[in-house]
Amino acid sequence: MADSAPPANEVPDVPILRALGDRRSIRYFDDSREVERWKIETMLQAARFASCQGNINCTEAIVVRRDECEHWEDLEECVSGFNVQIINQASHLILWLTNINAWYGRAVDGIGSLSLSGATTKYHGWNYEFSMTQTIPRLMSFPPERTEMLLRFESGQAVANAMAAGTGLGVGNILIAFGRKPGGVEKAFGLPLNYKFTWGHAVGYPLEDAAAGGQRPRLRFEKLFHDNALGTPYVCQPSTEAMLREKGLIQEQAPTEGRFEEIVGIADRHGRDAGMLYFPAAEIRRLMADEDWDFGPRIRAKAEEVLATEELPEYPQEMKDTFMKLMNERGIDATKFLPKD
Ligand SMILES: Cc1cc2nc3c(=O)[nH]c(=O)nc-3n(C[C@H](O)[C@H](O)[C@H](O)COP(=O)(O)O)c2cc1C
Repeated sequence: MADSAPPANEVPDVPILRALGDRRSIRYFDDSREVERWKIETMLQAARFASCQGNINCTEAIVVRRDECEHWEDLEECVSGFNVQIINQASHLILWLTNINAWYGRAVDGIGSLSLSGATTKYHGWNYEFSMTQTIPRLMSFPPERTEMLLRFESGQAVANAMAAGTGLGVGNILIAFGRKPGGVEKAFGLPLNYKFTWGHAVGYPLEDAAAGGQRPRLRFEKLFHDNALGTPYVCQPSTEAMLREKGLIQEQAPTEGRFEEIVGIADRHGRDAGMLYFPAAEIRRLMADEDWDFGPRIRAKAEEVLATEELPEYPQEMKDTFMKLMNERGIDATKFLPKD
């Protein structure tokens, strides 16, 4: 096992746009391969250098190994059912933690370190007396719930950095929910109340092709980004898109040729169910007709094939109940999710 890093010139230099484009949620890991320690260290280093408010360093992590961690069985019970297989094939599990006390206990030193670094200066209006008599007392008066919201965002930044670094080193990543037993991870590891378990992150070498059947579809760019005012589309220039395709940030959309054969093959080799997750025909048609989504020809062709050849489920009553409740209680317009009859 290569624990120590190779010489720097032997580590491939993957450009950031390519690494970001290469990232996929990997759900099939090769359980015979272990990610080298230096790669995990590199990912954690990338997390450490993510932007963080007032330099307070609120994001921490526990790196867990299946065969070494005494809490593994507890973790298996906490992880959402559809993630159990993933954590058991992954090489490492990183439990990302947000330390709320960093806000209250480190803001003064964080800002002090920025000042000594030549980062925050009087040029921008920083001033010791104002910071200590106004800014810090105001920040320290935030209730923990508000601090938690701010700091969890920050942890997200750190995790994204770690995933990008991992992808650049050929490591597969996926974030996984631990929704089965709320509070279970905190209990298993005896986390003090100020430590919030933010997310689980499985890491390993992909068993599937690293492209995982292509880039997963997203909403259209101009549906997500707004120009000066909400609702005014911020449009991506075709020349930018063309350049990003060349640089690898935008890649072939899923499902690429052979993807379904690939996942059926993996399931067969593991003696597991190879079936797809099918939605009712009306739901597939509605989704494909939704102009907000940036669907390319291959996913549309797959939808047509599924509609033509598969036995699709009916729309369950619970689905109707869920969305009726949402509409009544929260005033959210969910009519499109209700059956037409
Ligand atoms: C906060 C967060 C939690 C996620 N939790 C799960 C999960 O529990 N299980 C899973 O299979 N994927 C999970 N994902 C992965 C998403 O499903 C995935 O990012 C999304 O489908 C887009 O695909 P891509 O990551 O391959 O681009 C999670 C992603 C995020 C950001």
